[in-house]
Amino acid sequence: MKKALILGITGQDGSYLAELLLSKGYEVHGIIRKSSTFNTLRINHIYQDPLDGNSKLFLHYGDLSDSSNLKKLVERIKPGEVYNLGAQSHVKVSFDEPEYTVDIDALGVLRILEAIRDFQDKTGQEVRFYQAGSSEMFGSTAPPQSEITSFHPRSPYACAKVYGFHQTINYRESYGMFAANGILFNHESERRGETFVTRKITRAAARIKLGLQSKLYLGNLDAKRDWGHSEDYVKAMWMMLQADKPDDFVVATGEAYSVREFAEQAFARLNLDYKDFVEINPRYFRPAEVDFLQGDSRKIQKTLNWTPTVSFDELVQRMVDNDLELAEQEKTLKEAGFECYAQIVSD
Ligand code: NAP
Ligand code: GDD
Repeated sequence: MKKALILGITGQDGSYLAELLLSKGYEVHGIIRKSSTFNTLRINHIYQDPLDGNSKLFLHYGDLSDSSNLKKLVERIKPGEVYNLGAQSHVKVSFDEPEYTVDIDALGVLRILEAIRDFQDKTGQEVRFYQAGSSEMFGSTAPPQSEITSFHPRSPYACAKVYGFHQTINYRESYGMFAANGILFNHESERRGETFVTRKITRAAARIKLGLQSKLYLGNLDAKRDWGHSEDYVKAMWMMLQADKPDDFVVATGEAYSVREFAEQAFARLNLDYKDFVEINPRYFRPAEVDFLQGDSRKIQKTLNWTPTVSFDELVQRMVDNDLELAEQEKTLKEAGFECYAQIVSD
């Protein structure tokens, strides 16, 4: 049986990747962080207490800041594949917490690579490694961006991801490791974190529709992004580790839309005009912006036969419909006298 270890299993991508690997018969191990509240919301539906039966999903406490624990976990689990999706993944927050972001998103990559190298040296067993690189690395370089486009990172987050990208290649070239980088453009879903712009918009539109909220405060509406669906993108990660040789791939739809267009479409799905509800607040501007990301993913389409299946229209619809359901539940609970969902959404 194939065995995989996922760092970042509680995140958007980690949860879809865990589902995908379980459906392919893998034994899946995930690293979770100790938290004072439950942080396994996205994977509760696939988790079964190993004490209760035949579970194929195992969770372990750990953190990308803790190299000795990472080494122990790799030695104990003996995974054939490691997916590093763990990160402080919010670009704006990286300006507020640059040192922490670089520790986790850059040095964290080095720590897990070292843990794998040690394990391979001791056992001779191959461990295939996936590193979650980002289109943010292109920063201000003009679109369309492909594997041969140069990087010009515009945030502590993006600088850290560039480090992780190069270190991954360095371990491949220096030690012959099967280490691959995905350069993934923005991908969203019904499970997207609530402070990323797409989810912030779809949640707000649904709550406004039901009278639970009156305004939505946003920053730069003119930024353009190439938005796909996370379920398609985790398939690309898996494909990269099944390839004959390790390589780096751009994963994108090839289509770009502005934040304004996303908002327009999301509100329109609910028969609302975004202009009546969206206000600009400088709080949400970034010290440096990435204006235009649009990927050229022909390499992965040709080499690994990957294609995106969810269009922009379908993505917006699925997210809005999901958030309308959540808002309906919230309204019902409120009317029954319960406060069910903290509304502290920022960034
Ligand atoms: P996400 O929802 O923010 O999930 C991030 C995951 O990393 C969570 O499981 C989080 O745990 C974990 N994590 C945070 N700090 C950690 C630490 N110190 N040690 C170990 N784990 C830690 O992000 P995502 O959207 O799924 O993205 C997955 C990866 O792809 C990230 O590396 C992101 O930077 C990268 N990426 C994302 C996109 C995109 O558009 N989604 C595009 C390109 C690249 P908690 O749940 O405990 O916070
Ligand atoms: N978050 C947020 N909140 N973004 C806003 C807002 C707001 O209120 N108003 C406008 N924006 C703009 C941002 O300035 C940015 O140009 C765009 O919306 C997208 O912002 P995010 O959704 O936060 O995503 P991101 O593109 O900065 O980063 C995401 O994609 C990267 C891949 O390109 C994250 O998932 C990163 O982890 C990922 O690497």
